[in-house]
Amino acid sequence: MADFYITTAIDYVNGSPHIGHAYEKILTDVVARFRRLMGDRVYFLTGTDEHGQKVQQTARLKGVAPQAFADAISAEFQAMLPRLEISNDDFIRTTQERHKRVVREILQRLFDKGDIYKGEYHGFYSLRQEQFLQEKDRNPDGTWPEIYGEVSEIVEPNYFFRLRSYQPWLVDFIARNEGFIFPRFRQKQVSEFLKEPLNDLCISRPRERLEWGIPLPFDEGYVTYVWFDALVNYYSAVADKPGVWPPAWHVIGKDILVPPHAVYWPIMLHSAGIALPRGLLVHGWWMTKGAKMSKSSGNAFNPMDLVGEFGADALRYFLIREMNVGQDGEFSRELFLSRYNSDLANDLGNLVNRVLNMTNRFAAGAVPAAGPDGDAEAELRAAWGATGGEYLELFGQFQFHTALERLFAFIRSINAYVEKRAPWRLGKSELPADRALLATSLATMAEALRLATVALRPVMPGATQRIAAVLGYAPAGSWSQELEWGGRLAGSAVAPALVLFPRPLAAPAKAP
Ligand code: MSP
Repeated sequence: MADFYITTAIDYVNGSPHIGHAYEKILTDVVARFRRLMGDRVYFLTGTDEHGQKVQQTARLKGVAPQAFADAISAEFQAMLPRLEISNDDFIRTTQERHKRVVREILQRLFDKGDIYKGEYHGFYSLRQEQFLQEKDRNPDGTWPEIYGEVSEIVEPNYFFRLRSYQPWLVDFIARNEGFIFPRFRQKQVSEFLKEPLNDLCISRPRERLEWGIPLPFDEGYVTYVWFDALVNYYSAVADKPGVWPPAWHVIGKDILVPPHAVYWPIMLHSAGIALPRGLLVHGWWMTKGAKMSKSSGNAFNPMDLVGEFGADALRYFLIREMNVGQDGEFSRELFLSRYNSDLANDLGNLVNRVLNMTNRFAAGAVPAAGPDGDAEAELRAAWGATGGEYLELFGQFQFHTALERLFAFIRSINAYVEKRAPWRLGKSELPADRALLATSLATMAEALRLATVALRPVMPGATQRIAAVLGYAPAGSWSQELEWGGRLAGSAVAPALVLFPRPLAAPAKAP
């Protein structure tokens, strides 16, 4: 059973993972951890998309069998997940038997009801690249670019899926389900796209052209078009797990919304009589110097390098803080370092060490109980009152960057509170009122840090666990209870120090 099923796109295995791939896993993981903390039973799926022309070609060039090639790259993607602290429940590969069986079952079902038929595919074919070309692939003068070699117009018998006959149903579905696609402006794009008539979808490739795919159950002379195969992963992974499908959110990049996820997938499910997912969460692209980061453009950053240098929490924080889900975001080492230094090392890291140092220096290493409040305490509590509730709301609306912006403003106000109370001055005084205020200020800063740490848990699972440990804090109760201001740390023994986000050695900026 699951209340919340969440998936990432499954990555092509024709190249190593880059920041764009890492981001999608992290974003999905943040949602998954958030929902778990809110009490949902979550099921989280990710995986690799392994069939198709590109994999077959790349494997051939390398002189290895496609399966061996796919095994190696899929292993790289799988190895990345624990290093990014991704809490997925399952990893699906489209070359697994459990997936192929379900794809074939669905194809057979659609064929039997007449939604798949045999027809003729007309198109321009490049023998050199072994692919059909589109009008958009032509040079402005109408000729074909050199890389395609000789291009000929061919007619090929193939199987087609009746997309067009489902167009009115899809238009109506999108109109009636306003929140199906996040952000909303993407849903509008889909409605615009659907104003033009759809063509039926060619879902087969003759085996003499493409071996590396799932054979059609009703004609073994053909393999399945890779998108028809790949989309089914979301369902095939849980087909034998009752109650997981359909409350699904698919997290995808904007490049694969239209037509695959917003047109093919809903129609495939509807035709097969399977319930539709709950929604599509569509993120933008990470760019380098204004261009989409991608393996083929040679501008890709390897996420593992950054994890090795700064840790998974820092990378997770940067990507979630910097990207407004749905928009594009710029990635550079400079931008990363600037957030790392200001937010993590300065604002958060310093606060943790201040709490530890002062509790050790002025309270023998145990957080005191708070004495009476003054205005400064009331102000900080009020700041939390505003931030805490809003934070959860923003998370629920996928506005993680704003939520983190607000939370770090709160962290800065804890630091400002510490400056104002100056426990180092109160610690020198023997006056009873100052001793009481010292206890209050130590308790207040520790409690405020505890709250910020608890709130950061979905984004920085490792760092927040380490902070909780040095504060002597053992989480208890539900997450929303933990997020209430209280005196939860009174009496906790704190550790001497914690180096959370060490300052990087001054190194020359690396070119991507
Ligand atoms: N295999 C298909 C998806 C099939 S899902 C049934 C595919 N693979 S991909 O490897 O090209 O991309 C996987 C995901 O990574 C996509 O959601 C894509 O948008 C995302 N990203 C790839 N490059 C990206 C950036 N530069 N920035 C952010 N995400 C991008 O498409």
